[in-house]
Amino acid sequence: MKLAVILGTTRLGRQTEKQALWVVNTAAQMEDVEVELIDLSDYPMPFFAEPASPRYNPAREIDAVAQKWLARLDAADAYVFVSPEYNHSIPGVLKNALDYIDFQLNRKPAAVVTHGAVGGARAAMHLKEIISESKALPIPNAVAFHGVSDGIDEAGNISDALKANPYGPQTALEALLAELKWYSDALAAARVPALAV
Ligand SMILES: Cc1cc2nc3c(=O)[nH]c(=O)nc-3n(C[C@H](O)[C@H](O)[C@H](O)COP(=O)(O)O)c2cc1C
Repeated sequence: MKLAVILGTTRLGRQTEKQALWVVNTAAQMEDVEVELIDLSDYPMPFFAEPASPRYNPAREIDAVAQKWLARLDAADAYVFVSPEYNHSIPGVLKNALDYIDFQLNRKPAAVVTHGAVGGARAAMHLKEIISESKALPIPNAVAFHGVSDGIDEAGNISDALKANPYGPQTALEALLAELKWYSDALAAARVPALAV
């Protein structure tokens, strides 16, 4: 599985970077998984302003930075979107990046990992709906994490106490990644290349 972990905010001082590194570190321990981080800070694309929906515009002309973001997505088999909750939803920068997608996520599984006062649960629900319209398959597992700022260090290491909790976020993340890999392996075998639906 080629796994892309998307860091869904560009805010200065963002805590979500720790959470995304934690996902990358955990995935890197798995067999048959190549994981890479896609940081939206590296893709400062303009607000989406194309004349038609990307999925209904075969002649679309794509902003050069957005094109690079889409190429990164295209190369992956599966995704984990890591997002904070802003105003009961996802950050605008992530929504804008998702608006550029045409068929890069087709028939590929995606999971959401969020954080916030209620674990980012409201952002997670929005994000699952959005990525289903992006033609990904949102898997049932999710991780909604309260307390990222104290629970994970700058290098993405989760605290020993949280790691040891059998009902804690580490257990939930490992289950999510195992499930994502199951869907990824199944869908990669079944996918017909270049079929846009
Ligand atoms: C613009 C903004 C809106 C926020 N709205 C919410 C919210 O609706 N619910 C919530 O639980 N936390 C909310 N928060 C708190 C964030 O979840 C918390 O600050 C978190 O650390 C943000 O992730 P970040 O540090 O990666 O930006 C908000 C924070 C910001 C900056």
